[in-house]
Amino acid sequence: MIDVRTKILGLVGYPVEHSLSPLLHNQAIKRLNLNYVYLPLPIKPENLREGIEGIRALGVLGVNVTIPYKEKVIPFLDELDSLANKIGAVNTIKNNNGILKGYNTDVSGFARMVEKDGGCKIKGKKAMVIGAGGASKAVITALCSKGIKELYLLNRNEEKGKNLIEIYKSKFPDVYFIAGGIRPEFYFSLVKKIDLLVDTTPVGMAPKENVDPVIIPEALHSNLLVIDLVYNPGETTLIKAAKKRGAKTLNGLGMLIYQGSESFQIWTGYTPEISHWKKIIKIK
Ligand code: ATR
Repeated sequence: MIDVRTKILGLVGYPVEHSLSPLLHNQAIKRLNLNYVYLPLPIKPENLREGIEGIRALGVLGVNVTIPYKEKVIPFLDELDSLANKIGAVNTIKNNNGILKGYNTDVSGFARMVEKDGGCKIKGKKAMVIGAGGASKAVITALCSKGIKELYLLNRNEEKGKNLIEIYKSKFPDVYFIAGGIRPEFYFSLVKKIDLLVDTTPVGMAPKENVDPVIIPEALHSNLLVIDLVYNPGETTLIKAAKKRGAKTLNGLGMLIYQGSESFQIWTGYTPEISHWKKIIKIK
């Protein structure tokens, strides 16, 4: 029940209507019998600074940050933990008595999903990552930290992808990197060599789910684990195409759960029960 002591948590992004985070966090709050509430907090792009200032002014205890603000919120924060600072993307903010500190729980959330739910040991594998935004940085950092051998990055804006890879080359000298555009002549033969394909772009996300997959279905094969970070719809056109070709697939729900549980712990000190969350959103 909400009373005078209820602490506020929430989700900052734009739009946020399709997120499952409010449902999951409020269910965990109920199950753990805590006095918190988790609210959707959409902020229009032109109001981002005021919105983040509002967290401080209103004493909101903590928020998750989603599309399109994982990088854009950074200038408005007071502190970053070392991982968020290293990768330049924040998905969790905690308000410590007016000091806003940014964290990134996407990195460990992604690695846990690949290894636990995907049954794929990252060490020594070859991966292709599509997209070069905040989510992509978390994925690349997770893969490199866990010992990926080769990483191919595709991005619509080739220059941006190449610049991103230059940064990681110096941080992870043991990884072999290549970057290029989302062009079949660049990626087709590379996909044949990889174990893991990760789409970090919003392509296929509701309400625009009926679009062509970000790469052509003919490139996919049965030795792949294909991950689309989009979880609404549960099966994007990329996931459908991958299944048809016999590949193993995961959507972004596992990552949502693992990163969310770590964020919840940062704010409250309590850990939600993963199996309870998986049951709510019907993952085995
Ligand atoms: P997030 O923080 O969630 O990663 P973002 O920073 O806005 O979101 O990044 C979105 C990524 O998806 C970008 O790499 C973007 O490509 P560009 O760098 O070329 O803009 C990519 N993206 C978005 N829409 C896309 C589309 N229709 N086709 C291909 N890539 C797309």
